[in-house]
Amino acid sequence: MNNRNIPVIAIDGPSASGKGTVAQLVAEALGFGYLDSGALYRVVAFAAKQNNIDWGDAEAVAACANKLNIQFKNSQVYLNNTDISEEIRTEEMGKGASQVAVHAPLRAALVNLQHNFRQAPGLVADGRDMGTVIFPDAELKVFLTASTDTRAERRYKQLLGKGLPANYENILLDLRERDARDKGRASAPLLIAKDAILLETDNLTITDAVNTVLFNFKHKK
Ligand code: CDP
Repeated sequence: MNNRNIPVIAIDGPSASGKGTVAQLVAEALGFGYLDSGALYRVVAFAAKQNNIDWGDAEAVAACANKLNIQFKNSQVYLNNTDISEEIRTEEMGKGASQVAVHAPLRAALVNLQHNFRQAPGLVADGRDMGTVIFPDAELKVFLTASTDTRAERRYKQLLGKGLPANYENILLDLRERDARDKGRASAPLLIAKDAILLETDNLTITDAVNTVLFNFKHKK
């Protein structure tokens, strides 16, 4: 792995646990870069659909990912220089991401791209396997979670806030389905790294969660 001396904070956890928001605020507070690894899987699902590739076809999905020109600029995601930040945030692409993410050849195809985000002065990486597979030497590993009901409510509000269609019951069912797929897959399943701190956020504000991560990072150094 390159740049081993550059600190990484790995924040993993299930869908809608608040990882993205917490990770971005921690990155801002420290002046670190931010990797939204879930966005990569969402872009792959989006590109596969555009190219009529079945999300279940492991080899074709990995081949498609190898050809992608993905860029992150000012919190926006570009595919072949087109801003697709909004298109990848739909529940359909969340579902697609979790379906393509089961494929080992695809996960392997995205490893270098993720390692390249490790740049000075540091990186906050958010996903499912940041602490277990992609950055096993991360300086701090956090597993952020909340009950399914809390997460469904957060996702519901988040979608409404963006003016996107949202149905609470469907979101709850999708979350359960996605949790099962993320935990049950053979390749890089969602699990708590042995050396991770567990942060249950049902009764924590975002500020509390961010401060807890920052406190743990400072005291690790
Ligand atoms: O926002 P949400 O947590 O629902 O999803 P996301 O973080 O954007 O990730 C979408 C999907 O990509 C997840 O359901 C996972 O199946 C997959 N994923 C993964 O397998 N590994 C990662 N490091 C990040 C996401």
